[in-house]
Amino acid sequence: MALQADSVWMDGELVPYSQATVHVLTHTLHYGFGVFEGIRAYQRADGTSHIFRLTEHIERLFESAHIIGLEIPFTAPQLEQACIDTLQANALASGYLRPIAFLGSDTMGLGALNNRTHVAVGGWAWGAYLGEEGMNRGIRCKISSFNRLHVNVNMVKGKICGQYVNSVIAKREVLKAGYDEAIMLDTQGYVSECTGENLFMVRKGRIITAPFGSSILGGITRDTVLRLARDLGVPVEERLFTRDELYVADEVFLSGTAAEITPVREVDDRQIGPGRPGEITQTISKKFFAILKGDDPDHPEWRQTYTV
Ligand SMILES: Cc1ncc(COP(=O)(O)O)c(C=O)c1O
Repeated sequence: MALQADSVWMDGELVPYSQATVHVLTHTLHYGFGVFEGIRAYQRADGTSHIFRLTEHIERLFESAHIIGLEIPFTAPQLEQACIDTLQANALASGYLRPIAFLGSDTMGLGALNNRTHVAVGGWAWGAYLGEEGMNRGIRCKISSFNRLHVNVNMVKGKICGQYVNSVIAKREVLKAGYDEAIMLDTQGYVSECTGENLFMVRKGRIITAPFGSSILGGITRDTVLRLARDLGVPVEERLFTRDELYVADEVFLSGTAAEITPVREVDDRQIGPGRPGEITQTISKKFFAILKGDDPDHPEWRQTYTV
């Protein structure tokens, strides 16, 4: 992944990549009090480019900020335009966008009520987050020894910077052990989600995933999967389930902006189904990528087109 780009949008203007810097005494660097988004842009078969579900991502950025009580000094349309400007300034016909809102370096006390809120949007080209091979063959997951955040300790519906320490330690733990991704259980022991992806299993033709009201992040790709499943007539259940139910699932797959739809072939060294991407996973994935990168006309409301 090359993070290098020409320009970054910062506080209302595009600045050269090398000038998009913050002071080492930036409040959010120390305490994690900030919010961010991850958004993807795709080029379709006809050569047009679009940002996938931009409105919903910017809406979630504002919701995350509202949850922690951070005022974003821009409007949603301004930040949507900032995303488009970032892609255009970097000549990205497809790529990944990272908007972030954070407190500056004015004071370091925890409250920092008068610190300025800064907003930036970075963009770069980013391939398959969990690897091309993982996309094709399925990845190997391990249940983490760390739990997903408790709903009344952290604000699970927000993409809040500091909360991601939990995901980072879980991810590093499984990477060092030779797996691709960590599955997090909630504090009651039910399967919640992964470090940056929602999780689905398929049992006897039904897609099952943890309910929105549990400790998961309300993934925009998760919502996309649920809507495509309904469009395709695949029954969906949102309910809690345990790790042993996952072991005997017919199929398991993950969804996320970075991970897109990634099949899982193994959980805790147990093969899932036939050990390769299953039929329902492939059906959903095919439809998903046809809408994003192909020529499927469905759900035009999800595609914010732009030119480079
Ligand atoms: C913890 C967590 N769960 C799930 C997701 C998937 O969400 P989305 O599909 O909106 O990218 C993400 C990524 O944003 C995440 O960080």
